[in-house]
Amino acid sequence: KSLVKVGLLGFGTVGTGVYRIIQAHQEDLWKQTGLHIEIHRIFVKDIHKTRDISTPTNMLTTNIDDILHSDEIDVIVEVMGGIEQTKSYILTALEQKKHVITANKDLMALHGGEILSTARANNCDVFYEASVAGGIPILRALVEGLSSDRINKMMGIVNGTTNYMLSKMSKEGMDYQEVLAEAQALGYAESDPTADVEGFDAARKMAILSTLGFRVAMKLEEVDVKGISSVTKEDIAYGKSLGYELKLLGIAERSDSKIEVSVQPTMIHKSHPLASVHDVFNAVYIYGDAVGETMFYGPGAGELPTATSVVSDLVTVVKNMKLGTNGLGVVAPYVEKQLKSDEE
Ligand code: NAP
Ligand code: HSE
Repeated sequence: KSLVKVGLLGFGTVGTGVYRIIQAHQEDLWKQTGLHIEIHRIFVKDIHKTRDISTPTNMLTTNIDDILHSDEIDVIVEVMGGIEQTKSYILTALEQKKHVITANKDLMALHGGEILSTARANNCDVFYEASVAGGIPILRALVEGLSSDRINKMMGIVNGTTNYMLSKMSKEGMDYQEVLAEAQALGYAESDPTADVEGFDAARKMAILSTLGFRVAMKLEEVDVKGISSVTKEDIAYGKSLGYELKLLGIAERSDSKIEVSVQPTMIHKSHPLASVHDVFNAVYIYGDAVGETMFYGPGAGELPTATSVVSDLVTVVKNMKLGTNGLGVVAPYVEKQLKSDEE
């Protein structure tokens, strides 16, 4: 077979980016995989909505069965968001032997164990690189690049919306509401931005990073969370006058006896590299026993950066399809087992 057919769930900010990258980079994708990748059907809520990208007739559907039960579709890319309904779509897709890529941190932080073990049972891949820090390949860095090390601490600016807001409030003295509206218009915020500004989105990402980095099953409810909704531009200006930048910082640290993970607004001295992470950029600072300190930096949200991670996952799935190695997963098997037992 020379063609891999993809079913896309969602055609908003990220879905549009995925479509554009697959169209624009077709030759590069083929050079790496030896197969052509095609978006076959797209599941949306409103088929009549005006969109800034045109698709062939009949590509859009509001009937999920056109995708989940299509014999032609090999891979599902889930970029619609949501939890319970979306989880049931993903589990059905896996039972139908379709590989899954998702950008959905809400879902992976809550139900990652069940999804990964269903994938394993069906010899399917599940990848979710875009779920943390948008365009930064941080999950691969933890699971592959740093697999030899023992990671002791991670500090991250992992929410693009709030970093954009805090930067604009700091640099331009903009008001909270005005700058939140800008972040929404740019496609950075969640459909309900409460998750961004109250720190829940960052907490979900820190739970995923902790699970993969510390190789434990980190429970979301154990993350201590405080958002930026009570921060004012005056607080930011005061910190700045003393040489500090205010950031929504995730910290995950392990000692011999416990792991502590928190998300909270934090004053960072301007001499620290994380203080220079502005706008929609994210960064994750990692301390490993052997490697010492490393920092991963890049765009944390937005159409094309996020879609880059999604399509890179797709390349991995397609390469695995050629090699017959799907289903081996990216989480250590024993962590997967722990995550699964938490669900039961
Ligand atoms: P979005 O712009 O709101 O798009 C959501 C898409 O899903 C829309 O096309 C919508 O259909 C469709 N959809 C939503 N609910 C549906 C339902 N019940 N049935 C059928 N279709 C439904 O969202 P997004 O910003 O692309 O984000 C998508 C996912 O990626 C979320 O999980 C988000 O957390 C994650 N993510 C986003 C970013 C980012 O920068 N935006 C970055 C990383 C991860 P209609 O078009 O018909 O309304
Ligand atoms: N709303 C999220 C953010 C999208 O602003 O970081 C990327 O996960």
